[in-house]
Amino acid sequence: MPHSKSVSGSSAGPMDHLDDWEQSLAARYPSAESSTALDGSSKKAEEFRDYAADVRPTVREFYRQNHRHQTLAFVLEKKRQYLPLRTRRMGIWEAMEFLNTLVDDSDPDTDLSQIEHLMQTSEAIRRDGHPRWFVLTGLIHDLGKILCLYGEPQWAVVGDTFPVGCAFSDKIVFSEFFAENPDSLDPKLQTPGGIYEAGCGLDAVHLSWGHDEYLYQAVKPYLPDEALAMIRYHSCYAIHREGAYDHLMTDRDRELFAWVRAFNPYDLYSKSAVRPDVKSLRPYYEELIAEFFPPTLDW
Ligand SMILES: [Fe+2]
Ligand SMILES: [Fe+2]
Repeated sequence: MPHSKSVSGSSAGPMDHLDDWEQSLAARYPSAESSTALDGSSKKAEEFRDYAADVRPTVREFYRQNHRHQTLAFVLEKKRQYLPLRTRRMGIWEAMEFLNTLVDDSDPDTDLSQIEHLMQTSEAIRRDGHPRWFVLTGLIHDLGKILCLYGEPQWAVVGDTFPVGCAFSDKIVFSEFFAENPDSLDPKLQTPGGIYEAGCGLDAVHLSWGHDEYLYQAVKPYLPDEALAMIRYHSCYAIHREGAYDHLMTDRDRELFAWVRAFNPYDLYSKSAVRPDVKSLRPYYEELIAEFFPPTLDW
């Protein structure tokens, strides 16, 4: 049986590492360039359709908890708890260092720190010659995981995100687990549109609570729409990979999702064992951060 593990002494969940979820994503959506999985095996893309059968029991249990507990009422409660932002006041670099204090069962000698993961993403974006705001987005996109350090459980920090307040799409991974979500029993919440008008736009739609929405709320005043879309929707695989929920979207949303899809490969496939040199890269990133952000912001 999966058991709860303490993350930084405050957060709990079935996965040993918070990043186990992201590794499972890379297995679900293998890189188009190569069908070689991160574990070195060379399965063909079709074989990954059997993803659900192969997924680790701890990751499966994590999804079961996520899908059971992410209700409309839960999301509204978290928004009341964290918005307006009032939990902390700190700069972006400080938030990166704070996130780095997240220790789980990973081995510090072989596993990359959270800052190293973020820099691998941003450096891959920089190497491809993308605009500075895009590089910055790569650097910060997972800072919302500091929710873990506030004591939020894994299922309320990471995991695929999805709209709540309307029918759960069968394009969401492990959608069968929504049978245990109380919203499944409320007919008002189980029509395709639910509480929303058709074509209302995703700005008006509540997404399951986690690191994406929290960071989006923190950085909303400072970044262009394209960057904000990458941040708010990067875990919404049902939309950006599977094309679900089009009936809630505007043409502007559809335009912005081209950027979400441009970002996704850097999130999924930029991880490597090569450690970025955080110390020597820091001045470049401090300058980039200062170009867009004030010295401190509300979290
Ligand atoms: Fe993320
Ligand atoms: Fe990420």
